[in-house]
Amino acid sequence: MTEREVDALVSCAMQAREKAYAPYSGFSVGAAVLTGSGEIYTGCNIENASYGATCCAERVALFKAISQGESEILMIAVVAEGEEAVPPCGICRQVMIELAPQAVVVMSNLEGKRERWTVQELLPNAFAKSSME
Ligand code: THU
Repeated sequence: MTEREVDALVSCAMQAREKAYAPYSGFSVGAAVLTGSGEIYTGCNIENASYGATCCAERVALFKAISQGESEILMIAVVAEGEEAVPPCGICRQVMIELAPQAVVVMSNLEGKRERWTVQELLPNAFAKSSME
């Protein structure tokens, strides 16, 4: 992927973050995924008074893509406020291994400080479909 594609995806995640529904944590997160077909799907975190029902921005974006029939996820951008780029939570890493095992994850803070990891690096030795064969 080109740097221009990375910039565009991070910018989509930043815009998606504006839609975050985070009345409990006050911590807004935006995500965007680029698919093999060239489409971009965005997501934001959506919280719930029953905290466990909260869904992270990354999963919202991934579920939107998969539910629209996408089968290949190339890149996932995640944006949140912080000194450093914010890493995805453990549940999202597990979902990424399932739905986007070959993807690159670009994390960015609001100032554009970035880190880039592969999904495999974020969740090494994962429990996956192959673990049950
Ligand atoms: N959150 C995300 O959306 N993505 C992450 O990877 C980390 C956490 C959200 C969930 C919750 O709404 C808020 O951030 C605080 O945990």
